[in-house]
Parts: sequence; structure tokens; C-alpha cells
Amino acid sequence: MKYTLIFISLLLILSNACKLKKDINQSATASIEQEKTILEQQEMGVLADNAMVVTAHPEASKIGIEVLKNGGNATDAMVAIHFALTVCYPRAGNIGGGGFMVMRENNGNTHTLDFRETAPALASKDMYLDAEKNVIPRLSLDGHLAVGVPGSVDGMWKAHQKFGKLNWANLLQPAINLAENGYKLTKAEVEYMDKYKETIQVLNTEENLFTIKTPEVNSVFKQLELAKTLRLIAQNGRSGFYEGETAQLFVEEMERGNGIISLEDLKNYQSVWREALVGNYKNAYNIISMSPPSSGGVCLLQMLEMLENINLNECGFHSLSSIHLINEVERLAYADRAEHLGDPAFYNVPMENLLDTAYLDKRFESISILQATRSNIVKAGNFTDNESKETTHYSIVDTEGNAIAVTTTLNGNYGAKVVVGGAGFFLNNEMDDFSAKPGVPNQFGLIGKEANAIEAGKRMLSSMTPTIIEKNGKLFMVVGTPGGSTIITSVLQNFLNVVEYNMTMQEAVNAKRFHHQWKPDTLFVESGAFNEKLSHELKMKGHTLIEKEKIGRVDAILIHENGKLEGAADPRGEDKAMGF
Ligand code: GLY
Repeated sequence: MKYTLIFISLLLILSNACKLKKDINQSATASIEQEKTILEQQEMGVLADNAMVVTAHPEASKIGIEVLKNGGNATDAMVAIHFALTVCYPRAGNIGGGGFMVMRENNGNTHTLDFRETAPALASKDMYLDAEKNVIPRLSLDGHLAVGVPGSVDGMWKAHQKFGKLNWANLLQPAINLAENGYKLTKAEVEYMDKYKETIQVLNTEENLFTIKTPEVNSVFKQLELAKTLRLIAQNGRSGFYEGETAQLFVEEMERGNGIISLEDLKNYQSVWREALVGNYKNAYNIISMSPPSSGGVCLLQMLEMLENINLNECGFHSLSSIHLINEVERLAYADRAEHLGDPAFYNVPMENLLDTAYLDKRFESISILQATRSNIVKAGNFTDNESKETTHYSIVDTEGNAIAVTTTLNGNYGAKVVVGGAGFFLNNEMDDFSAKPGVPNQFGLIGKEANAIEAGKRMLSSMTPTIIEKNGKLFMVVGTPGGSTIITSVLQNFLNVVEYNMTMQEAVNAKRFHHQWKPDTLFVESGAFNEKLSHELKMKGHTLIEKEKIGRVDAILIHENGKLEGAADPRGEDKAMGF
């Protein structure tokens, strides 16, 4: 009986297996003919000739596209969008958080800006442990001690100083107007405010707009304190946030809630220009992404290098073999993430080894087509809790062909759930992205070790993966997503959906996703992605499947062969693509 089962499994496997050798170029370069078919027959996002923005909120998209229409470049649109999202998407858009920007100029030059938060000077390795060295539940997630020193305002300021064309204050004015005059709340927004109100009430030291009665759907939501803070930033640039009245209110808030961020921490914060991490896929595509302290670029390039060994197109979209192999590759990349990745200013990240082709080929060879590998049995991460992990991503292409991908976050929904009294903005809970104790999972179920241990001034490891892709040297795709640990695998699958499975950008974004992160040893899959037969076959291979309602929320732009820009907003949210 046992042998009959093995034989049947083998037959199933072989009938589904695809060619396992490097098959460069064959599936990765869709011809112009294929391109035409795509344009004629497939579901398309928003099409435009000149410029495109895709963001998590229609108000922010509207503001961004107006900037581009008025002669602003991608950096100008980014600044306007970023501050607008702080107002209209307060659970992830932010001035109290941080993020990463990846830019490709129309001449092909690339730049990345790391405006990730840092641990305050008083932070220490064991700050979230009790006397017995156990992690104190939720201390790195809720309230003032969870907050990292924010980087967003410095990031926007530095990028604008270097690349901005339009006046800084004018770029902030639409966000100030939005805060002062208000915007209409949607049902989803009201539901989120309501869901988190009680927690926010408990954690805040003063009454604010999010602790009082939740407004009605369609009511106009005004944030006057936030408008005042934005005005200070508009007038004084980075000093309007890191010094003066805003900084004072920030530190007073910390003192009331036993937080540890000081005036010095704020004044000393600096975002960092870093060399873009660039890799190649099947000779045709250059992947331009973020280096550490984001794990996004390294893991994405690792996975793609390993996947070059397979003709995924031949495997077929969501076939047994493609899911199994992509899953195994994801597992391997996340195992390296846990061990080796952290802030390069504090830890010697072995970048060359991690991205070495021979090493990755060897890793790939360790994969069995027959069986899922076992990630050693460890305490599973608390990955199935109900709290969504909210980050936000926006993609921009301007009229001159400059492209920007930004992923930014407060970490959890509404971050630490603390509003700075009198200043009207939420603070991040990014300290949870550190490894509070080796081997103990954070809110994403991710584990880490020394590389990502807490140290004063250090940046916590991130999964954010803002990415720009070139095809044959020309701008091809701008992509990114929220989703915590699932960010990297969502970006990977969106890219593969287009280049391997010939989907339009919109189809790629709409397509169901799956995710593996080594530990917990679980294949997370969006509800309805796999039919019963496929789920059964994956289980037969040894995969443990858990359904999740949604994975990621990708906002992306694809540049078609005919030069048209296709903006794809993820239908999982209220995201909006706008172009002209
Ligand atoms: N806070 C989520 C991340 O940076 O990966």
C-alpha cells in the first residue's frame, strides 16, 4: 500500500514537473506579438501615456497626479503623496514612522534612500525582557516604549533637497488642506477606527480624534492639530519636526507615557543614501531594490537567482510544481534572513556570500521536487492573530520617465497606537521589528538573532521591498506592497506573474498569493487560491497549509512595449491608480 502511494505520487509529480534547468530568456522575454495580445485581450489597469501614480488612497493619488500635471517630477509627487497619506491614511501613512525609497532616473541612474527608524539612545538589547529573560508580551508593540525614532520627514526632506523641482511648502499644502478641510470617511476607514479605538483609548495619555466617538461613514474628518504640525514642517523643513514645537510635544508625550525618545534622538536622526541593490533575472531584467537594513532586496534577489533554474512558464501558474518550488525557494531565503540580516552599520552582513550564484545554485539543488523540506520544529510564530500589519506602498512614474517606489510604515495598524498630544500624528511601533530575544518570533512570526538584536541607534530589520525593474535596459515595472513578512514574496509573485505567466499588471496584482517564511513551517495561502485537488497534492508533498484572507496590497506600474503606462491598484484595499 505504502509503495503504491509513493508510485502514484511520483506519477503525479512527474506529470506536473517542469523543466529543471537554466533556460535563460525563453520564458522571460515576452515578444511584441505577445504584448499585443495582452493589450487586446486581457484585464488592464489604468492606462496612460505620460505619468502615473498608484497609492493606497484616492485622495493621495489625486494630490500626486496634480503635482505631476503641474510640472512636478516624481520626487515632488512623492513628497506630496507621503504627507497626504499621513492625513487620509493614518493607520499606515505617516510622519511618525519610516520607510525606504527606490528611484530610477530616466537616464538609468539609481538611488535609494533609507529613512528607516532607529532605536533611541536609551534602548538596550534586553529592554523587552522580564527578570527571567522572557519577552514581555506586547511591550514592543503597544505604547510609548515600542516607538523607534521616526525617519519619514527627514527622508522626504533629503530626497526633495537633492531631486525636488517644486517648492517644498507648496508640496505640503494639499496635505495641510486635506487635514484642515477634511475628507469623507469610507466604511472601511470607519471600521478600522472603531476596531482600534479601545486600544488607542487605553494607550493614549490625552484625548484625541481617535479616542472619542468614531465618526459616521461619509462624514468629513478634519485633523486640525495635524494640520498645524504639517504647517510647521512646510515652513521649517526637517527642523519643523525634529526640533522646536513638534519635537517638544513629541518628548512631552514620551515622558507622559514612559517612553525613552529624547530631543537629542530626534535632532540626531539621519536618513541614509545607499547604493541600490541590483540583480539580474534571465539576462533580460534588472531588479533594482533596497539593501539592508531592509531584507527585501537580498531575499528577492536570492529567490530569483534560485528560480532561474526553473522554467516557471512551462510549470504553469499555480501548478503543483511551481507552487512547491517557489515555496521551497522562499523557505531558503527566509532562513538566511533570520540568521544573517540586520543593520549593516552594526552587523557585518555577508552580502557577497548571500548573493553568490554558486551558493544559491547549491541551495536550490538541496530542494526536493518530491517533498517539502522540514524547517526544524520550533515554536510557531503567532501568525494567525487578527491584527493586520499595515504598511503602505506607492509607485510613481513622472512625465520624464523618472520612477519612484516608496514603502513606508508605522508597522502595525496605527503603529504604537499613540498620538502625539497636541501634534495629531501617530507614532510607529517599529521596535517590534528587532529580535527582542533570539529565536522568539515577532508579530510577523519572524525570528532573528544577533544580526537584528536591539542596540542604541541601530535600524531594525525590515521586509519592505520597494522595487523598480528594467527590461533590456528600459524602465519596466515599479512595484511594492505592505504586508510585513509577506512583502517580499508578494513582490516576487507579482513580478513572476507578469514575466513568466504573461499577465497584465492588473491581473498580476489581482492574482491570489501564497507565502512561506521558513518558520513557522507553514504555507500561507489566500482564501480560494488553490482548489481542493491542489491543496491535497501540496499536503501530500508535506506542506502545511493555512488560509489567510488577504496577503499584500500591491500598487504597481508596468510600462508596456508600446510605451503605455499601466497602473494597477490592488482591489484588496481602496487603492487608486491615476494617470494622464
Ligand atoms: N514593519 C514591517 C517591516 O518593515 O518589514
